[in-house]
Amino acid sequence: MKLVIHDLPAAEWEKLQAEYAGDRIVADQGTIRPCVGCFRCWNKTPGECAVRDGYENMGALIHRADEVVVISRYTYGGFSAFVKNVFDRSLGYVLPQFEVVGGETHHQKRYAEDKPFTFLFYGHDLSAEEKESARRYVKAVCANIRGYVKDVRFSEREEQALPEAPQAAVRPSGRTVLLIGSMRARSGNSAKLARKLGERLRGGYEIVPLPRYLARPAELYSALESAETLVLCVPLYVDGLPAQVIRFLEGLRQYPRRGIRRVYVLANMGLYESSQLVNLFSAVKQWCGKTGTEYCGGLGVSAGELLGALTGVTPFRLGPTRRVAEGMDALADAIRRGSRTEDIYAEPFGFPRSLYIGIANANWNRTARKNGVRPEELYRRLEPSDRPAEARKNAYPNMDLTEAMRARHSVRSYTGKPIGGETLETLEKLIEEYNRESGLHIQLVRGEPMAFGGAMAHYGKFSGVRNYFALVGKKSRRLDEACGYYGEKLVLAAQALGLNTCWVGLTFRKVPDVFRVDAGERLALVIAVGYGTAQGAPRRSKTVADVSCAENAPEWFTKGVEAALLAPTAINQQKFFFTLRGDKVSAGTGLGPFSRVDLGIAKYHFELGSGKDRTVWL
Ligand SMILES: Cc1cc2nc3c(=O)[nH]c(=O)nc-3n(C[C@H](O)[C@H](O)[C@H](O)COP(=O)(O)O)c2cc1C
Repeated sequence: MKLVIHDLPAAEWEKLQAEYAGDRIVADQGTIRPCVGCFRCWNKTPGECAVRDGYENMGALIHRADEVVVISRYTYGGFSAFVKNVFDRSLGYVLPQFEVVGGETHHQKRYAEDKPFTFLFYGHDLSAEEKESARRYVKAVCANIRGYVKDVRFSEREEQALPEAPQAAVRPSGRTVLLIGSMRARSGNSAKLARKLGERLRGGYEIVPLPRYLARPAELYSALESAETLVLCVPLYVDGLPAQVIRFLEGLRQYPRRGIRRVYVLANMGLYESSQLVNLFSAVKQWCGKTGTEYCGGLGVSAGELLGALTGVTPFRLGPTRRVAEGMDALADAIRRGSRTEDIYAEPFGFPRSLYIGIANANWNRTARKNGVRPEELYRRLEPSDRPAEARKNAYPNMDLTEAMRARHSVRSYTGKPIGGETLETLEKLIEEYNRESGLHIQLVRGEPMAFGGAMAHYGKFSGVRNYFALVGKKSRRLDEACGYYGEKLVLAAQALGLNTCWVGLTFRKVPDVFRVDAGERLALVIAVGYGTAQGAPRRSKTVADVSCAENAPEWFTKGVEAALLAPTAINQQKFFFTLRGDKVSAGTGLGPFSRVDLGIAKYHFELGSGKDRTVWL
């Protein structure tokens, strides 16, 4: 199984996806959050990211793949913001501890393997120089995450028209903005170094934390309209700019009233050799080249976690921070004069690499203990059996059920690929288990084209459906809700097995004799299942406040409701409603077609999202 990380728009992906049928796909759902730089993937939940948005298992997914394929729009010598975001969130794939590899400091491997990475960059009229910078960049990325570059390819694709220069003339203001690009904002090393730089600018500057504007970037672009000098104060993340900074630069590039004339960089990084900042400087240079802005030089500081901490406690010009202080004098001087400086690479003074590595490695054990993690647990290797309880029960190869819940969208068009082998066995076992548990009579119909072959299916825009779950059960008031609950269990299992699905209430034909409806039973509805020609797309959704009521909602309740909002409902009506009562929840629904089926589906999502079981219901 390959792991494919891509940023392609749906229409472009559709052309490619048959090539990757059965592979694990990580695509932009519009929900990914930036790495917050907390290092919990190293010292609290080793191997796994603490930000829970569906992209927390990247380290384990890379590990489980035979090969990683990365498809990215060429963006200033590296990845697009989304693909870079995925890499930033994959830090848990390696260990926190350092070692020297090929003459440079890198992280130790968590998994005893050499993972091949193939990179497919697309862009418009990429020059030989640009291609070379992308090659250099992915080599550095692979060295850092301890895989190897299997292949790098480039393809031509018209880029969205981006303005190459400001469209509106803005008068120079002399304002200098030090933009902090780290999610650690004011408490991070970028901010500490920015404040030191600020002291040398002697007024006339402002420090602006990017995280404050993530949800309202236009406000930031507009605030920067009158800035003449921008100093990007950024950490190095996976050999490049952090994803949120790339996103910011992309947005600013398209902003029509850019006042900025000159750009400087104050970058810092965790490893010892500041030369590893070369790709980050190059990215900013490329951005400047595209925007008609002058790149005026940068200061790169290595061993950031050490030197950042020392900015506050030792005389800055003495001891390990000496070279940083000297570099900062030169940078500040250039900023004040509006002139250029060479890129300056500063490393700890009088502090040998071996000592740095020794201290840093020992430090991880201390922070782990503080977090209640035994030092040996830092080396945890995530295998499928380390998944949450529900996923463990079913042990899917590609994703767990929570991931499946986020990845799944309705799919109406299917390839002819039959369901067979272990996938079929797993589905049949699950049907048996769920029928036993619920008293339902769910059946899987395979290789049957008639139900979705006629005019009704055409009306429902179906094509290629050959398989479906027939949701049958004893006629009762509770039949619809039970079909929703257990049907959705099958839907998410199917998704985790690499299949696609669509709930269908009306637009199909009841074909006689292909499934059984015994005396006293009723067919409630069906679910089309198979290998989709596309992965579908997300729908508009109501909000947590629209569909729930709780005073001082505990986190588990909110997470449950958020998960329920991902549930498919008939005509996207989302008529369900959850009310917190003590430590229990009452769930109800308004009137509407199939609304009780929807309720069953939403309740199963709520259980998965909240981590509760069926005893949560009143
Ligand atoms: C997701 C992530 C990726 C990182 N990648 C690198 C890297 O490739 N090379 C490096 O030297 N340091 C890397 N670091 C370490 C940071 O650059 C370093 O901790 C820096 O001091 C953080 O600055 P801040 O406190 O302003 O966020 C990474 C840190 C994170 C959280």
